Order: sequence, then C-alpha cells, then structure tokens
Amino acid sequence: MQETKIIVPPIKCQGIKTKIVPFIKEHVIRDEEGLWIEPFVGTGVVAFNIAPKRALLVDKNQYIIGLYHGIQNGSITSRMVREFLEHHGAILEQRGADYYREMRDAFNQNGDPLYFLFLNRSDFNGMIRFNRHGQFNVPFCQKPNRFSKAYVTKICNQVDKVGDVMRDKDWTFKYGSWKDAFSSASESDYIYLDPPYIGRDTSYVGEWPEEDAIALVNYSKATPANVCLSMWRENEFRRNDHLYEHWSDFKWYECKHFYHIGAKESNRHPMMEVLAIKR
Ligand SMILES: C[S@@+](CC[C@H](N)C(=O)[O-])C[C@H]1O[C@@H](n2cnc3c(N)ncnc32)[C@H](O)[C@@H]1O
Repeated sequence: MQETKIIVPPIKCQGIKTKIVPFIKEHVIRDEEGLWIEPFVGTGVVAFNIAPKRALLVDKNQYIIGLYHGIQNGSITSRMVREFLEHHGAILEQRGADYYREMRDAFNQNGDPLYFLFLNRSDFNGMIRFNRHGQFNVPFCQKPNRFSKAYVTKICNQVDKVGDVMRDKDWTFKYGSWKDAFSSASESDYIYLDPPYIGRDTSYVGEWPEEDAIALVNYSKATPANVCLSMWRENEFRRNDHLYEHWSDFKWYECKHFYHIGAKESNRHPMMEVLAIKR
C-alpha cells in the first residue's frame, strides 16, 4: 500500500474505513468527470480522501448529513464548534456522566448536529447507535475531561479540513435511503458501497435486513455505473457467506487489517477485508 496523508473526518463510527483508505484509493479507477456516489457515506472518510469533483453522498443518519451540509454551506464553522465543545465540555468536566445524559436527552429532542458531534466524540468508542424509536442510546466514555483543549482543537481542525475538501466542489449530501443514490447513476459514474455489516456487529441487527442486502446485490448488478463494495471476508472465527454467495462475479482485492477489542495488544484480531469491484 502506498503511503498517503489521510484526511480524518470529525465524526467517528464503528466500521469507519480510515485504515483502509490507501487500499481503496489504490483500487478505485474511475472517470474523473463521472459522479462519485456513496449510498452509505457514514463519516465520509472515503469521499474526503478520494476528493472527487462531483459527488452524491447519501446516508439515513440525518445528523451526519446535517453536520456536513452545515459545514458545506458555512452555517456550521470550526469557530462555532470550538465554542460549543468548550462550553459543554467544561460542564461535562464538572458533572460527568449526568451531564452526558442530559446532552443526550436534549439531542433526542432537538436533533441538533452540534449535539450529535458532542455525543459522538464523548460516547463509548465513538459508536453511533439508535434504538427502535430513533433515540440515540450510546453510553458515555466515562472520561469527564474528554474535551481537553488539544482534543477540541483536533476536532476543529478536522472540521476545517473537510470544509476545505468540499469547497468549490459539486457535492450533494442527501438524507435518505441507499436506493435513492442509485436512481440517476450512469455509465461514467462510480458507486462505492459500504453497507452495514451482516452477521458481525450486533448493533446493526434490524438495521440491515437480509432483503436489503439482496436488493443491494441486484441494484449493483443492474446499474450501468461501476460498483465497488467494501466487505469483510473472514476473521479467525467465521467467514462471510453472503459475500461468497452473492458477490463472487465481481473481482475481489483483499487486504488484512487488525482491529482491537479493548486496549490490550493481545486482543488484536486480524480481519480480511475485500473490495469487490464490478469492472
Ligand atoms: C459501515 S457504515 C459506513 C462507513 C463509512 N464508509 C465510513 O468509513 O465512515 C454504514 C452506514 O450506512 C448507513 N445506513 C444504514 N442503513 C442505511 C439505509 N437503509 N440507507 C442509507 N444509509 C444507511 C448508516 O447510517 C451508516 O452510516
């Protein structure tokens, strides 16, 4: 893999592709004039690093879309982010988990992307999870002094950086279902897919049913655009049968990476990741 400077976005999530960005960049060969389409954009780390001229970036998480929309149109600036995180971070330092829960309750009422950013950067492992009523329910990271000066500066720099990447580009962020992203795709376009995991991460149960996984296969084969799917192939415990069963006529490129459970070095687990590319 070639060494590249990776742009790290201000949002975190489970399954974020930061570590395999160089691998993705190496294998994505596309028409620069075509539209870059991401039906599951998540943190946006892939789009920010590919940095296409034109993009359609879709997610069913309206708060991520709202945050990036705000950064894009200037209604959310790194200065606002700093003021917000410094103010609420200072109260968090005093009041700890109780204040985190108050902020979470407030967010579940107001849906404000800045509250979402605060929670995402102070919750357990940067997870994103909603209950069946759409309420954000990830617990606190248990570090009351989470928003140190250095941490707030780091987040603000990330906001500035993604703002710089988007500037002067024709990018559309859209809150919606992945299917919306396929409708206008043409032959010169490139669709990068990173759907929720099947059978690995229980926090996604109910979010990504088998019918959707199969519909995604069918949409990917039918669209005139090129398609690249990111998916795990196997780890030391299990193999992803869905990949073998449904994506074997795409060309697979493989990469091994390690993930951690807890902080101990002995808990490093290898995972084979695949990019399955249509043509
Ligand atoms: C594995 S994550 C994508 C991670 C992203 N590639 C990154 O590196 O940050 C999957 C994303 O799909 C979104 N998602 C789940 N179901 C969806 C649906 N039905 N339509 C659109 N987006 C969906 C989730 O909100 C989540 O952001």
